Amino acid sequence: MKLALRTAAKINLGLHIHRKRDDGYHELETLFQMVSLCDRIELETRPSGVIIECDQPGIPTDETNLAAKAANLLLARFPKVKSGVRIRLIKKIPSGAGLGGGSGNAAGVLLALNRLWELGLTRRELAEYGAELGSDVPFFVTAPCALGRGRGEILEPVEPCKKFYVLLVNPGFPISTSSVYKALKIKLTKRENHISILRKFFEKSDFSSLGESLYNDLEPIVIKEFPVIQAIKNQLISLGAQGALLSGSGSTVFGIFADSVQAQSARDRFQNDGWDLFLTENIRNFSEVFPEEILNYP
Ligand code: C5P
Repeated sequence: MKLALRTAAKINLGLHIHRKRDDGYHELETLFQMVSLCDRIELETRPSGVIIECDQPGIPTDETNLAAKAANLLLARFPKVKSGVRIRLIKKIPSGAGLGGGSGNAAGVLLALNRLWELGLTRRELAEYGAELGSDVPFFVTAPCALGRGRGEILEPVEPCKKFYVLLVNPGFPISTSSVYKALKIKLTKRENHISILRKFFEKSDFSSLGESLYNDLEPIVIKEFPVIQAIKNQLISLGAQGALLSGSGSTVFGIFADSVQAQSARDRFQNDGWDLFLTENIRNFSEVFPEEILNYP
């Protein structure tokens, strides 16, 4: 049996870090938004074993790949499954980019194997399995836009806003999430948390206020080490973006635009040093990415 699906990238419109926890993770609040840059995943059941194939040479295809971990997790929890799977990843989302590409792939594998192996798991149950794989994985099975709390796995879906346009600029080098968190020094003084304000502007589709309120507590650390991130932000703003921000722990910077013509013109006029540019839109509904077999199951 075969199933193919696309998995989208995410950006963080806001990322507030509260504190470091005893388990080493950071307690945070974030507004996640899926955008229309997608990988494709093709799955085919086989008699046994998990095989990963990928069109990008730099991506590991052994059991360390998050997609393989997702399949192996389900196999371990459901011994009644007497099947294996071949998973082919066709990558468009850069890795180490703060776009959640690997997490989205893992979520896609959970959704697809739930269907192929007829596990009957709800989205909530899949999200719980996802949390064992990575902090961002539950978001990708929950909603195209959501508020994340805890280490990112406690999710509250947010009503999608109007269509807007997101120009992603990837400078071509990956950034390790754990090294950024390691360099983070949280001030003990209580800092303002702007997530609820950001959410209000988002729900009103007030893109100019939203653009001004974008913020990411990890951004100053990344800019300190990679000043080019600031230069990309400046250029996005000078080309008419309503706001520009580092996504997650980087390395991708995004600019938001209410107007598609302005977004296209910014992409065309962007002076770059061989950086990758992707012009995307916000995803408002899972039906924009997932096939019927996934949408209507169980
Ligand atoms: O959960 P995930 O494996 O994606 O996290 C990667 C790394 O990012 C963790 O090992 C941790 O160093 C850091 N992290 C964190 N707090 C979070 C999420 C991630 O410190 N809420």
